[in-house]
Amino acid sequence: MFSRITSQLHGESNSLYRIRQELQSQGHIIRDLVSGNINDQGFVFPQDLLEDILVRGSRACRIYRPDSFGNQGAREAISRYYQNRGYAIDPGNILLTPGTSLSYLYCFKLLADEGDEILCPCPTYPLFDYIALLSGVKLTSYKLDEERNWAMDLDHLEACISTKTRALVLISPHNPTGHISSFNEIAAMADIARRHDLAIISDEVFSEFLLTGESLPRPAGTGAPLVCTLNGFSKMFALPGIKLGWMAISGDPGRVQKALRSLELISDTFLPVNEIVQACVPEIFALGDAVKNNFAKRIRECWRIAQELLQQSHALKCTIPEGGFYVTLKLSDLDEERAVETILRENHILIHPGYFYDMAAGHLVMCFVQQPEILQNLLPDLIGTLDRLAEGI
Ligand SMILES: Cc1ncc(COP(=O)(O)O)c(C=O)c1O
Repeated sequence: MFSRITSQLHGESNSLYRIRQELQSQGHIIRDLVSGNINDQGFVFPQDLLEDILVRGSRACRIYRPDSFGNQGAREAISRYYQNRGYAIDPGNILLTPGTSLSYLYCFKLLADEGDEILCPCPTYPLFDYIALLSGVKLTSYKLDEERNWAMDLDHLEACISTKTRALVLISPHNPTGHISSFNEIAAMADIARRHDLAIISDEVFSEFLLTGESLPRPAGTGAPLVCTLNGFSKMFALPGIKLGWMAISGDPGRVQKALRSLELISDTFLPVNEIVQACVPEIFALGDAVKNNFAKRIRECWRIAQELLQQSHALKCTIPEGGFYVTLKLSDLDEERAVETILRENHILIHPGYFYDMAAGHLVMCFVQQPEILQNLLPDLIGTLDRLAEGI
């Protein structure tokens, strides 16, 4: 009765989450230092502002007149967003989606047939496995180099390209390493894409949260043959529940037109983005700008506090993130599984072992976007446990 992939579509339960469940059933409160849903950490778009915008949005769409690319005003606002950052992307080259995860599915469908390969960074946020399974494509990976702040190893990346590779995925700022690819790195990647005739899928969901530097280098400004730039409101305005994302298509005009024709049909098949939300996009950009800047400032402060505390540990070394919400911690001679389980049992703090993100042994991953007092309360306990374990006590 069921398809072949159905048997692979079930969540895996791992020992860390079983321990968390056991502790919660005993009445313990577990503090989550990995969730990327920053609404839980007190980063919330102002209620009154959102209400006003949504009311006006609902008026604008009482009569249903859908556009398969998405509301024109919304696409113009997104185009202005790029223009203000020095990138010319026509509103006609932008497609609204219900979030970046769906944008990935559209990209995979657009670019790859069953069995074709999409080359993704490793380590990576575990987002792609099920999207790839659903779209029948195979994920392959290129390594990021921890010694160079998790930058791409471009020779290695090029060596990973096979005759079946159809696209390169770039995530910058990267989740979970926090690396921001430089102009040079991106230009070299674009050069590889051009030589092998590959598309670049550029995931920029953390674009507004730079810890160093003022502006984000983007593949859209390069000579790559086709670039699908993905972003949305879930991180940018801390509005994951609004479900608004987009794909901005740039590159060789012929390729861009072909991509847009297909994407229009994919999108028209479902017309998936809520019309009220689409109508709200220009106002969320305009009125939410100060909110966004305030989030970014608070996130930089979170990192300052977390860095100061983490540097006091003898048991770990962190690679300083340049953007995003996460930091990778390298343990000196400590088993990460034992570390995360002990921290969970003794300190009631959930952090992830690096292997959840395909990192080599001996790493942890933590989200530093938390209330400052929570960081100040929890990190000394976490560090104390790690230092104690490292000393063999
Ligand atoms: C790198 C990266 N890309 C995409 C997403 C998903 O974004 P969206 O909420 O727009 O689907 C996430 C979510 O955390 C992410 O970390």
